[in-house]
Amino acid sequence: MATPLKLYRELADWWPLISAPEDYADEARDAVRFIRGASKIPVRTLLELGSGGGNNASHLKRSFQLTLVDLSPGMLRVSRALNPECEHVAGDMRTVRLGRLFDAVFLHDAIMYMRTEADLRAALETASAHLRPGGVAYLTPDHTTESFRPSTGHGGHDERRKGGRRPRAARYLEWTLPPSGRASREYAVHYAFLLKDGHGSVHLVHDAHREGLFPRPTWLRLLREVGLVPRRATRLEGGRKYDVFLGLKPLTSSPGRNRSARG
Ligand SMILES: C[S@@+](CC[C@H](N)C(=O)[O-])C[C@H]1O[C@@H](n2cnc3c(N)ncnc32)[C@H](O)[C@@H]1O
Repeated sequence: MATPLKLYRELADWWPLISAPEDYADEARDAVRFIRGASKIPVRTLLELGSGGGNNASHLKRSFQLTLVDLSPGMLRVSRALNPECEHVAGDMRTVRLGRLFDAVFLHDAIMYMRTEADLRAALETASAHLRPGGVAYLTPDHTTESFRPSTGHGGHDERRKGGRRPRAARYLEWTLPPSGRASREYAVHYAFLLKDGHGSVHLVHDAHREGLFPRPTWLRLLREVGLVPRRATRLEGGRKYDVFLGLKPLTSSPGRNRSARG
């Protein structure tokens, strides 16, 4: 299934100017700390599902040997340029099966695109199916039902000057709207992108993303249902607290619960 979102399709090439690798240093540092702290085995290999432009990976690759999976060919192209030493695979986090096991699996902001419980469960099943016993899945959703806060933000970067061409630049406004009702499992994030091309022309693109919202008990239950021992923790960034979830693959598994990855 191709992504319908402009950001990951026709704007994929702009990703490094919208979201730069240096913005991910703190998140990646926390990921290494949580994964090493929770795992019962030494962590050498890590599978990232929904790895996007590879910004997290650009930091994580110093600690782990990475395999990066994403749905979008454009985002994979951007990530390959940034992380040529990492393995890249096109796939859907709900269904991909690589036929091998990893010491850790990481699902960062891409998990927000799971908008139904069935999709979230399928993504967690993929994580579990690729984990070695004693390994850990580390999940960092942007929001849970309990932690959700509407917000606005902005950002963007200038391209470094290359040859004679005028550097491109991007700026964006991000507007996270509240869900429509208390029981709603979805919220919308609207983006206004202002993109300055190599000729100096600026154009505007609006992109609306619908994202999933689930209560903490649902995350913990689904992790348990896919054969992982769940735990919630908190990470701090920019003065805000974020829920993170860890799912440990038991060293000894109960029959029928631990499925291994099939190609
Ligand atoms: C915000 S970007 C991830 C950025 C990434 N954290 C980074 O470090 O560059 C979200 C990514 O999720 C991917 N995505 C969305 N749904 C997906 C799915 N079902 N399976 C795999 N990737 C998916 C999109 O293609 C997009 O590249």
